[in-house]
This record gives sequence, structure tokens and C-alpha cells, in this order.
Amino acid sequence: MNLDIDIEKKVEKLLKKMTLEEKIGQMNQYNGSWDVTGPAPDGNNREKYDQLKSGMVGSMLNVVGANAVREAQKLAVENSRLGIPLIFGYDVIHGFQTIFPVPLGESASWDLEAIELSAKVAAKESSASGISWTFAPMVDINRDARWGRVMEGAGEDPYLGSKIAVARVNGFQGNDLSDGESIAACAKHFAAYGFAESGRDYNTADVGEHTLRNVILPPFKACIDAGVATVMNAFNEIGGIPATGNKYLQRDILKEEWGFDGFVISDWGSIGEMIAHGYSKDCMQASEQAVNAGSDMDMESYCYINSLKQLVEEGKVEESTIDDAVRRILRVKYKLGLFENPYLYCDLEREKTDVYSKENLEIARDVARKSIVLLKNEMDILPLKKSGKKIAVIGPLGNHKDAPLGSWRAKAIENSAVSLLEGIKNKVGEDVEVKYAQGCGLSQGKRNFLFEVDLIEEDKSGFAEAKKLAVESDVVIMALGEDCWQTGEGRSQTEIGLPGSQMDLLKEIHKINKNIVIVLMNGRPLTLNWEEENVPAIVETWQLGSEAGNAIADVLFGDYNPSGKLPVSFPRAVGQLPLYYNYKNTGRPDKHPEGMVFWSHFTDEENTPLYPFGYGLSYSKFDYSKPTISSNNMSMNGSVKISVEVSNKGAVDGAEVVQLYIRDLIGTITRPVKELKGFEKVQIKAGETKTVSFELKQEDLAFYGADGTFKAEEGDFEVFVGGNSRDVQKMTFSLK
Ligand code: BGC
Repeated sequence: MNLDIDIEKKVEKLLKKMTLEEKIGQMNQYNGSWDVTGPAPDGNNREKYDQLKSGMVGSMLNVVGANAVREAQKLAVENSRLGIPLIFGYDVIHGFQTIFPVPLGESASWDLEAIELSAKVAAKESSASGISWTFAPMVDINRDARWGRVMEGAGEDPYLGSKIAVARVNGFQGNDLSDGESIAACAKHFAAYGFAESGRDYNTADVGEHTLRNVILPPFKACIDAGVATVMNAFNEIGGIPATGNKYLQRDILKEEWGFDGFVISDWGSIGEMIAHGYSKDCMQASEQAVNAGSDMDMESYCYINSLKQLVEEGKVEESTIDDAVRRILRVKYKLGLFENPYLYCDLEREKTDVYSKENLEIARDVARKSIVLLKNEMDILPLKKSGKKIAVIGPLGNHKDAPLGSWRAKAIENSAVSLLEGIKNKVGEDVEVKYAQGCGLSQGKRNFLFEVDLIEEDKSGFAEAKKLAVESDVVIMALGEDCWQTGEGRSQTEIGLPGSQMDLLKEIHKINKNIVIVLMNGRPLTLNWEEENVPAIVETWQLGSEAGNAIADVLFGDYNPSGKLPVSFPRAVGQLPLYYNYKNTGRPDKHPEGMVFWSHFTDEENTPLYPFGYGLSYSKFDYSKPTISSNNMSMNGSVKISVEVSNKGAVDGAEVVQLYIRDLIGTITRPVKELKGFEKVQIKAGETKTVSFELKQEDLAFYGADGTFKAEEGDFEVFVGGNSRDVQKMTFSLK
């Protein structure tokens, strides 16, 4: 904990002046569900409105825009007894109005500077529009592509996930939270939300201490060390106790052990949901359990505001517990400069110039192309020539201007993305004929944040036109994948292949023209076995945001050499899930020598993923030399240095993500077969060779072992170097 003495004094002084009711008010957050710029609302919202004026609300979410926030802020500051400013939160997940790639896609860049910059731009835009707090980054590790929220995180690996989490926190929060262009970040969802059984959203998570400590918590701890201002708890239960009422997580680990000095916000209504979980009999008990467990602010369950006073009076909750929560909330508000100027984030001028600017869109395009992963490229079909060809763009995502914006899109303007077709047309010369046929539909009916997507199942009416176009064309770019509303909150699926009629369309076109480049747009890993077997080129573009089409065209036509690597394993079949590269070996890992069935495998599918974690191709060809290790022995206070020479044997300059993995062969707790412990994204010119070195120290080998302490254990290690988690070269050393 690194407290600012000046702020602490102010917090204490203010706290002394506050009544119990006013304190509880600070712990109450409401959704802005009426037009705050209009007249006072009626009905249910009237009470919220009156409470804002009487200091019974500490924060609002979903009130956005410099004008709206100013109006809502005025209600609190000008009417309440102490004039304490509100903090305004919003889900700024991958951009505010300039939309960046969905977080999973952006993570495929493995480019921490680019990721930090994207969060910084998002903060700049939000802070001009009234927002001082984002509910991001989501740092939930996830190994199950059925879960719709896989699109919102950084994938399956705690090491990569931690680095990306810190980059995002730094981008949002900047160097000084009160500089007016930075906003408070929120690490979420604490904890194990990404471990929902069968990937079904909100489902039970039941993980042991070992997985909790070594896999789930590291990105949260990294955020705390980076000074994240807030943490959001989670909807799920873990080990029988809802995360929201979990004292072990929130008080013992987060606040005590890690010294977190910011505040914990509940997830939407999650305090009240403890009743349905069967953990609390009513809101009164839920409040008692949540506040005592360390949940400081109630998002929209109305439990705190209606019960904390009575709980304190009855002695079920200590007033010192309330004080602790309020101290944390006020501390963040002071840090944000809200007390000095409650309207700091409501600059109408800046809102005009800083939001959705040309400059921001250029940054979004750069991050977008860095996020693209080339999964397959045979017969050198890519990059495409910019002249003298007939290009067909076929598929329901070919001219979609909305799906590339992704889920959790904050203030994105509907249908504002550059479509793939537009991007290609912007790119090629006059003599290139680019024609489009949709082929089949993507979804119908309601398409937005609130509703399930209605997939078009049997729609083949557009096949004929698409087939005709394929006959006439030299190359077919097939734009396939998911509607953006197929991923995100509440969007879990049991099947993860191409939805609707897309697979049939692809097969039909393939019969006519084999020169196919699949451009995938999706928010989760997909099963792509047929595609991998039959189609020469596959480009994973996720949902790339505002500049999607331009960024994809940059890659398709070779103006940008793809450099992304998968932050998640792509399964061969949904039945393999959960699937991740850092799995445990089991007692029966190997195929039985005499062909018997008794080993850990599936009888109808391989164990391995189709595309492994860390995988991605380039237009360059990178050759790895035999790596070297400085010593085969390492002392506890020493280190080993691993070096490898990487040569670009291709004809074009490129970037390669060189990856280092370890395996701790024997542990007091069994260790994964591989663990990422270092990576470096290096630019290598055509014909050039670069040496990449990594240093491993004791802390890189440490984990929470059988006695619960975080330390490295003596013994033998393997160390692997390569361009993905599968194709690696191995060395060994011992830690003594
Ligand atoms: C989500 C959170 C989000 C909150 C506020 C919840 O449903 O789980 O991640 O921040 O809503 O929109």
C-alpha cells in the first residue's frame, strides 16, 4: 500500500463529518435509466433522483456524455449536504467511440505497447465524455470457448494475461489519475468467473486452491501491483460461496495479503443474487454477508441502501467496516481529482475534438492489423496482388459494417465499421474488379446487447448468385464467422463451428473455385477442421473494431505483414473443452505401446488443438537456431540466460513473437507440461538475423506449492524456445 498522506488526511476529515446514512449512500451505485438532462423522472426513477440529491448515492453507471454527466453531477454536488461528487462508471471495454479490436483479438497482438495505447485512447475519449471509471480490464483466465465472454479477456494463459492486464491498467490510468485524460480501471471479475462449469455463463465454479492461486489470481495480483483503482467481484460461486460474499477472496487475499487500497464494486445486482444462490435468505442477510466479506459498493441490487443502517444498529455490521468501505471509495474520488473539480470529465470542447478523431482511428487501424493471426497460407495465395485480378468477396460478413464492432462496444456508432469490402476497395487499383455476394444471412431479428441472436439456419437463397461470382473470379475471399452478438455476456454456446448456412456455402463455393481465402470474424475460438484441411488460406481477424476492413486489407494485400499469435488454443472439437496448452500430464499421458485403450485420450479425436496457443504465421519465414543456455545449473539466487538466433529467411520484413516456456518436472504440486515465462516481439528485416535472450530467475520458477507459499522448488527443469507453444526446442537445467 502506497498511500498519499495528503489525500488520507482529507478522507479522514470528510469521513468525520458524515452521518451513517451518508456513508451508506457512498456505497450505493445506480444505473442511470432515465434522461438525466430532462425533467425529474417519475415512477421508480423518482426515488433514485431524490436520493442523488440527498447524498444517498455514491456513483452512477451508464450515464454518459459531458452534458448528461454534468447534470447528474450537479444533482449530487449542488443539493446534498456535503456535496460529495459522484464517480461515473461505464463499460469501456475496447474503445469508447473509436472501437478497437475485442480484447481477445487485441491480445493476439502480443504487443503490450499497442495494447496500452489502445486503453489510453479509450480513456482519453471517455474522460472527455463524463466517464471517470471503466469496468475494465476483464482479466478472467478462460479455457473454454463455449463461454461467450472469452472475447472480453486475454485468453488462457496467466503469464500473458498478467502482462496484458497491466498494459491495460497503465493505459487507462496513465501516470496521474487526476490529469483529466486518465480514468480509474477495474480488474474484474474477482474471481474464477472464467471457470464457469461447461462454459455456461454465471455457472458454478469449483476450483482448488492450487488453480486459484497459480492460474486465476495472477492477473489480478498483477493489476493490484500496477495500482489498479478498483476491483469488481463476480456473479459465480466458488467452492460453495458466492464471490460477492467471499471473505477469503476479498478481505483475506485482496485487501490483507495484497494490500489493495482501492474499493470493490459488486457485479450488477450480485449482492441480491446471493439469495438465488441459496447463500442468503434475504437482502438484509445478503448485505451483511457481502459487506463483511469486503464488497464495498453495491451495483444496482438496492440491498445496501435498504439494509446497512439497520445492520449497523443491530450490531451485525461494525461501523468501522462501513468506514473502511467509504474511505476506499473517497480515496479513489480524491485521486481522480473529483473533489477539486466535479466536472473535470465534462469538457464539452474536448468531447468534440478528442472523441472519434482521425488520429484515434489511425491508432485503432494499427492495433487492428497487429491483432490479425494468419492461420494458414498455402500455395502463397497471400498476399494478394493489388492489380489485374478479379476478386470475389463472398459471405455474410463481407460487407457487414456492424459485426466488426464487437460486443461491449460502449458508444460505438451502429454500422460505423469499415467493412471488409470497403477496405478492399480502398486498397486496390482501378483495374481490379471487386464484386460482392452475401451468399447467406448471418442473423435476423433483434441484434443487440440485450437479446439472443437469431441465427439464420436454412437460408440458401443467395447461394446461386455467390456461386456465379465464384466462377467468374480469380480469387474468392470468404468472410465468415460470428455475429458480434454471439459472444459476450450471456452468450454461451454448445457448438462453436461456423453457424447457420455458412459451412454449406463454403463447401459449395469450394467445389467451384479452390482459390479461397477465409477471413474469419469471431469473438471466440472456432472449430475449423474442414476449413484447415481444404482451404489454402485462413486469416483470423476477430472483431477488429472501427477500422476492421482497412486493417484486414492491409494484411491481405501485404501492406502489413501479419504478426499476431493466438492467445487461446483452437480446439478440433467442442468435446475437447476445456482445452489449454498448460495442462497437466496425468498418470497416463502416452499412447499405449501395444495399442491398448487405457491412456488419457479421446477415442474419436486427437488430444491436441487444431491451432496451438502462441501460433500464428507470417509472410516472412523465421528460422530458429539451436538455442543455448548459459548453464545447466542455477542456484536459488542466480539465473540462467537462454538465447536463440532468429533469422528472417523470407523476402519481406516481419515481426516474430519469440516465446519461452518452462516445465518444472517434479513439484510438491504437479506442474503443467509447459508454462509461458517470457516472450519478445522482434522486428526482423528480410535476410536479417537477431539474437533474442531471456533470463530466468528464481521468481520466474516460483508457484504456490503444497505448503501454500509462493516459492521455487529445487529440481530439474525443461526450458523450451519457439514461435508457438507446440513447435519448440528443448533444453534442461537444474535448480539447486
Ligand atoms: C457485467 C459486468 C459489467 C456490469 C455493468 C455486468 O452484467 O458482468 O462485467 O461491468 O454488468 O455493466
